[in-house]
Order: sequence, then structure tokens, then C-alpha cells
Amino acid sequence: MKKITFIGTGYVGLVGGAGISEFGHQVTCVDIDQEKIERLNAGEIPIYEPGLKTLVKKNVNKGRLHFSANISKIIQKSDIVFITVGTPQGSNGEANLSVVEAVAKTIGENLNGYKIVCTKSTVPIGTGKRIEEIIRSVNSMGDFDYVSNPEFLREGAAVKDFLHPDRVVIGTRTQKAIDLMEEVYRPLYINETPILSTSVETAEMIKYAANAFLSLKISYINEIANLCESVGADVHEVARAMGLDGRISSKFLHPGPGYGGSCFPKDTHALAATGQKYGSPLRTIEAAIKTNESQKVRMVEKLSRLMGDSVNGKTIAVLGLAFKPQTDDVREAASRVIVSKLVELGASVHAYDPIAMDNFKNHFPNIKYFDSWQDAVKSADGCIILTEWNEFRGLDLNELKDLMRFPVILDTKNILSIQGLESCGFTFDNVGRKLHQ
Ligand code: UGA
Repeated sequence: MKKITFIGTGYVGLVGGAGISEFGHQVTCVDIDQEKIERLNAGEIPIYEPGLKTLVKKNVNKGRLHFSANISKIIQKSDIVFITVGTPQGSNGEANLSVVEAVAKTIGENLNGYKIVCTKSTVPIGTGKRIEEIIRSVNSMGDFDYVSNPEFLREGAAVKDFLHPDRVVIGTRTQKAIDLMEEVYRPLYINETPILSTSVETAEMIKYAANAFLSLKISYINEIANLCESVGADVHEVARAMGLDGRISSKFLHPGPGYGGSCFPKDTHALAATGQKYGSPLRTIEAAIKTNESQKVRMVEKLSRLMGDSVNGKTIAVLGLAFKPQTDDVREAASRVIVSKLVELGASVHAYDPIAMDNFKNHFPNIKYFDSWQDAVKSADGCIILTEWNEFRGLDLNELKDLMRFPVILDTKNILSIQGLESCGFTFDNVGRKLHQ
């Protein structure tokens, strides 16, 4: 059993801390935000993530998981310190590392014996080296090994992804650090989860390369979907057949309004900026970014076309604001660009999302929000689905048609039945599917 600290109680810190306490270690999650720590100690979970509350409660009750704002004291008591603070995108596309650097300094000041300092946040290649330098600059005699241990969890499936990962990557220099990290992940190690040990730079690169590839895959299928519309093909059949080829795999071939979230947009920009910086441009990733941006605009154009070439003065119901289902996160969500454009074009937006409305209100306080999809679509001139929540998959098309002023819908997630829409008499569109059977 190791004593482990997670600095930063965002997504990765909270899920990682709870997950590693579940592996049997003593974990303390720390944060400078005293109020957040108080809420966590009162059993409140600041993010919506299926299964997280139960996991936290279980491990708190077992006495393995704690929360504290006393960062220095907790670092001093730890064998391993995980850095899980935010790395927002700076104005030049590169990640802003000021918080990571401040944390590295605090760790250096509290190094009172051998420790592992491990970064889980996605940080630009070369950050590990920088963190080591900062620690040494404040504590030249400090005894520590640095590890890059990127996290691959997805929001909405974070607990499952953390407890059952496809692989664990440990980037470090010494065997001692590898052995200790294998101990941290012992239950996974026993389960034969692949544990890859690499250099720090390789581990940092793996995370960006994986996220950028998935982004590329989505932009690729979105462009194929757009072409399917012109040639009369069905992108779902194309994607299914492509995915049956084991070299391609079926995952992340679902077309839509463009990817969002706190990772893909930021990480693709950061990797592209790194490529430019080293004179080794990543043209494929630069193209994926552009495609993603235009895909969102394309959705507004599609909707305008459905509405007689203008949304000006029209009431548009927007169903789904989160960047994907099972989360209340709206960071870089396609909805942000699409709602902004609709408002700019003179539409009145009536929005509904099962859980992301509070977060969306911070960005769009002036659109109208409703407590159910039925209320949002009432008397609307058109409707657009932006998140594939289950409650939208199952919505009653007859009820929808009766509630709307005009039965016009753009299904950007392709979750509604084409036959159903046709037989109810909807004017509709989707992304890359045949409109008529
Ligand atoms: C992503 C990665 O999937 C995780 O492995 C990684 O750990 C995480 O970023 C991170 O770097 O922290 P996440 O952003 O939570 O996870 O969400 P995803 O499920 O990957 O979805 C990202 C976006 O792509 C969403 O907007 C989603 O709707 C979109 N998407 C996904 C598609 O448009 N089509 C698909 O086929 C799949």
C-alpha cells in the first residue's frame, strides 16, 4: 500500500484518485480551492460522471480516500505525487503550463525524501523535463524520479475506463520508478493489462498521438459523410463496412456536428503547434482541425436550407448542449458554435439538455431554457439535435410533430429513424445518410 497524492481535483484528479484508492492505496486529493475541498468532504461531487459518487463514497468509507487543502503537508507524507491540474489552451495554440509549473515548485519545496512525481494531465512534449528542472531549481538535493503516466479515460465512461484501461503507459528513466508504478497499478498488472514502459518524451507523445488520431478519424468520417450526401450513399453502411476491417476498427467512425470536449480540440491544436515549433508540421492534424470547424458551420447552413434559406425570426429548438451524452460538460461543444451562429442570424433559440443547461447558461445567459424536450419544441419552427442523449433517441415523432409549429428537424447525430420521419411527414436532414429509402 502506497501513500499517494493527487494535486488538482478536476476530472482526471478525482477519477484517478478514487480509482487508485479502489486499487487499495491511501489517497489524498488536494486542491487550492478550499471550498471545493469542503464540498468534497461533505460528499458532494462537483462533476457529473456516472459511478463516480459511489466509488468516492465507498473508498471514503473504507478510510482510503481523503480530501485536503493542505497541499504542503500532504506532499510531505506521500510516496507518489500525481499532478492532475488543468492545462488550458494558450492564445498561441500551445498549452498554458503556469499551474503545472507552480505545482512543480510546491512539490520541490516539500520534497523531504524519495518520491515519485508523476504527471497525468496532458502536457506538451518536453514538459517532464521542465518539471524536473523546476523541482531541482528549488531543491537541488531533492531525491525523486519523474514519471509521465498519461490518462486515456473518456468523460461519461471515466470510472470504467480508469478501472479497466486498454493499457497503462509509464514514461520514466529508472527501474525503481517503473517498479513503484507497477505497484500502484498492481490489480491491473495482475489482470494482464498491457503496461508499457517508455521514455518520458515517448509517453508524452503517445497521449497526443492517440487523441489526435481519434480526432482525425472523426474528421475523416465527417468528410466522407458529407460526400455521401452528394453521391447518395449512406455513411453508416460505409462506416460499418470500413470498421469490419480490423486494421481500421469500428470505433470513432460516427459522423456528427464535429467533435468537442476539453481534450480533442485542445490537444490537436497543441500538437499542431508543437509540429510547427519543431519545423515538422502535422498537415493531417491541421486539416482535421479545419474540417472540424467547418463541420459545425455546415450544420447551421443545413438547418437554414431546411428552413427556406433563413433562420432569421424563426424559433429553433436545440436538443442537446453537452459535447456528448453522459456529461454536463459543454467545453468546445459543437452547440457553442451552432447556438452562437443561430443567434447571430436572428433566430430565437429554445434549448434543452438533461444535465448540461446550467453550464451552458454561463456562456449563453440570454437564450431560453426549458425543463423538457417537449417544452423546448413547443411552437418551434425548426429543431436541431446536437447530442445523442437516450431520451432523444426514443422521442415520439408524432408527439414532436404535434408540438412543433412546423415539422422541420436536423438530426446531426443520426439517431432518429428516417422511415419514421418520412411517415410522420417531417422535412428533415441528417449527416451523410440517404434521405429516401
Ligand atoms: C477523449 C479520448 O477519447 C480519451 O481517450 C482521452 O483520455 C480524453 O479525450 C482526454 O484526453 O482526456 P473525451 O473528450 O472525454 O475523451 O470524449 P470522447 O468520447 O473521445 O468524444 C470526444 C468528441 O468526439 C465528442 O464530441 C464526441 O461526440 C465526438 N465523437 C466521438 C464523434 O463525433 N464521433 C465518434 O465516432 C466518436
